[in-house]
Amino acid sequence: MHNLFITTILILFLFSNSSATLGGGVPRSGGWNPIPDVTNPTVVDIGKFAINEHNKQDRASLKFGKIVKGEQQVVAGMNYNLTISAVEGSADKSYVALVYDKPWEKIRQLVSFKGPV
Ligand SMILES: *[C@@H]1O[C@H](CO)[C@@H](O)[C@H](O)[C@H]1NC(C)=O
Repeated sequence: MHNLFITTILILFLFSNSSATLGGGVPRSGGWNPIPDVTNPTVVDIGKFAINEHNKQDRASLKFGKIVKGEQQVVAGMNYNLTISAVEGSADKSYVALVYDKPWEKIRQLVSFKGPV
């Protein structure tokens, strides 16, 4: 009787726990979550930052177009994985940028920049 009670509680706990981690709107710490609104000003800022940093580091001259898609990861701060459309010469191309952002310490770093993809 007692064991059954414990088992039931355990199953309920596991179930609620897994439904919370799989739930749509709840950010899953440690995992990547799709960014629903890629026109969000912070996300656009991060994208422009990635293009600017890449231009500085590699003496490139890409012009920011828009964010095509992206995902974010909650860490001690936020990781952004953005697919960015940018103009190189006269051609629109896609690039994938990984940016680490910790706004309350004013840290924003371009972790990697790949492309055109
Ligand atoms: C970032 O997104 C691109 C495009 O969806 C994907 O190919 C890549 O594996 C992702 N990188 C990470 C670190 O999740």
